[in-house]
Amino acid sequence: MKIASVRLHASVYRLEDLPRDEKPEIVFLGRSNVGKSSVINSLLRMRHLARTSSTPGRTRGVYFYAINERFYFVDLPGYGYAEVPHSLRRAWSRLIEGYLENRPQIRLSLLIVDARHEPTPLDLQMREWLEVHRRPYIVLLTKADKLSTGEVKRSVERAARVFPTVTIIPYSARTGLGREAVWREIENALACPSSR
Ligand code: GTP
Ligand code: MG
Repeated sequence: MKIASVRLHASVYRLEDLPRDEKPEIVFLGRSNVGKSSVINSLLRMRHLARTSSTPGRTRGVYFYAINERFYFVDLPGYGYAEVPHSLRRAWSRLIEGYLENRPQIRLSLLIVDARHEPTPLDLQMREWLEVHRRPYIVLLTKADKLSTGEVKRSVERAARVFPTVTIIPYSARTGLGREAVWREIENALACPSSR
């Protein structure tokens, strides 16, 4: 896809503030610090668009990036970050669940998992949620640059046992591995009139 324009359209901290226009949305999900914001930056080839950090819990709101004024990339806070106070965690999950549950314009979710590790129990919970709600999604095994070719292959095989019916793409925000394959999935999802 040719990227003509990218801008941060909205930073949302309360459900009432979600954008009301109905542009299609592509959502990035995954545990805290797994590399969601880095995937967004690498897909758009913009190093510093979405804020990234080696400290987990960097993304706090729901960020809507307007791409070509045609669709949004939606960067969510990660799940499973234990260090935040309980009340804050509850507010996050209210925001994220409220968003995910009532958003027919979500065309595709990208579930981002660390290529080095077994999917976590929270990843499995996310998988259940996506499947129960019949949401189209793909899995990205990110940080693949930290593995050898053989290890990446084994990581894909392991993920395929956990996500047997889902497209799995090894990815690296560092090297750009997987970028073209992910764009193809996004373009397909955007081309479907409605996938739900
Ligand atoms: P939260 O917003 O806190 O949930 O984190 P996030 O999932 O958005 O992760 P983020 O993109 O901020 O990346 C977390 C850390 O992982 C940063 O230090 C990144 O530089 C690093 N990182 C992300 N993607 C990759 C990758 O593909 N390869 C390597 N080697 N490091 C990565
Ligand atoms: Mg982030």
